[in-house]
Amino acid sequence: MVIHRQMLILTIGCIFFAAVWAGTAAEQCVSLEPTGVNPEPIEVPTGSAYPTFPTEESILLDLRNRQNTVELRKHAWSVYAGIVRDSSRSGVPVWETWYLKCDVFSNLASDPSCQALRARKDERRGAFFMEVPPELSGLPAGQKTVATTIFFNKEAGRHILDRQLWCQKALCDLNGNLDKLHAPQAERMIPPFPRRSIVVKAIWPDDPVKPGDKIPVWNALWPTTSGETHVPNSWPDSDRLTLENPSIPCQLPPSGNRVSISCFYTIPTGNGYWILLGLHIMTKEVSGWTWSTFWWHPRPDVGRYAAERPDEQVISKGCWRNYLMDTTLSTDTPYEPNPCNWWEGAGCGKKVMFNPYLEAGKKDGIISNCVGCHQKALFKPQGFADQGVTRGKIPLEDSYFSGAVTTDYLWSVSENAYGTLPAFPTMVLFSRNTAPQTSPPSNSRQRRLGGQKAAGR
Ligand code: HEC
Repeated sequence: MVIHRQMLILTIGCIFFAAVWAGTAAEQCVSLEPTGVNPEPIEVPTGSAYPTFPTEESILLDLRNRQNTVELRKHAWSVYAGIVRDSSRSGVPVWETWYLKCDVFSNLASDPSCQALRARKDERRGAFFMEVPPELSGLPAGQKTVATTIFFNKEAGRHILDRQLWCQKALCDLNGNLDKLHAPQAERMIPPFPRRSIVVKAIWPDDPVKPGDKIPVWNALWPTTSGETHVPNSWPDSDRLTLENPSIPCQLPPSGNRVSISCFYTIPTGNGYWILLGLHIMTKEVSGWTWSTFWWHPRPDVGRYAAERPDEQVISKGCWRNYLMDTTLSTDTPYEPNPCNWWEGAGCGKKVMFNPYLEAGKKDGIISNCVGCHQKALFKPQGFADQGVTRGKIPLEDSYFSGAVTTDYLWSVSENAYGTLPAFPTMVLFSRNTAPQTSPPSNSRQRRLGGQKAAGR
């Protein structure tokens, strides 16, 4: 059921695009080959509960239908183990070798930031962007306290390139053909992604951190009124931890209120450290994707979100064991044990799943569900896409979908088609042998992440 509608994307028609793009390569939808990138495959460690990727769809759907939380969690940890382990070839986590938006959305390739990235050629893997997360676009500038980067594995990235899903004209044409065919709503979709597709979204602070900075920690809260937002800089002061030099060994739980930067997955830069606050993973093992999210916590071994983490043979000792996890394959299940307070009637009891460092900052984000929002990713030439928090499954007969082509749950495809992809504020460049550097913003698409830093930093 819809409780809030936020229209973040304006009405723009296909004819408008055709006029603007007349004569450009984009009009022909010619995909540009990515350069200097070699996406490496997931390698699920032996000893994992689900060592063969992809897991059979029927097995996963059966687990979903029986709300078998334990097995669904084991599956999510297995996928995580397979993509956070250092790749044998480049020595960085597998997901970091994957395609970026610049690689797969050919319309962005002429952007100066993307050109700089593509120009790096062989040494360039180990360079990516920190973006303003569009989910938080409704917030005042000072409250956008995190940055994000999306990574597409080879199969997902090739699908966008090979099917020209980056090209507005291709989506307009598809939509027009479906109109002519009077296609039923269930068939009004882009060609579905292949089963081996994985897309990851990494969540970082909006600036590199330094020893002495403070980091907000999420200790579960439930909403008391509707419409609440919980950006990290509003979380209780008493839960904040002061960061210490990464040369200090990580000790969790911390003995006081200090924690080493080495407790996080870290990318050093010239002027501080990018620390990984969270990671979203979606896999196309089932037609509606599997959804999991991971967030850093100083007590990573406690509670329901720590459950089923595999042993150190599978996820080796180190920073990757310091993240909590939640997973779902549904807008609704596994049902929540929690009381509902005011949101009785607004999908009370249906699965809540969010990453505190990202979606908690959205209005009603702490009762959101990944699939609840991503089911609405679409392209509609005369219409909008709704990125507000809603609860539960929206039937395909809902007028929201009419006249639209759905984008197989990918918001980045939808946003790119509407031309509303966010700016790339900061590019982080690093090569294998040298210390990483952060480049300053260098073009018009770039903007600051907001003047005010996360509280305490
Ligand atoms: C209220 C809306 C909303 C919710 C809830 C939400 N997302 Fe997203 N998500 C987005 C938007 C918008 C983007 C596009 C971001 C961009 O282009 O950078 C996105 C992007 C992503 C991507 C990159 C692939 C894509 O769609 O382009 C992944 C992976 C992802 N989200 C996973 C998750 C997971 C896992 C959850 C739940 C824990 C979640 N999301 C919850 C709105 C949402």
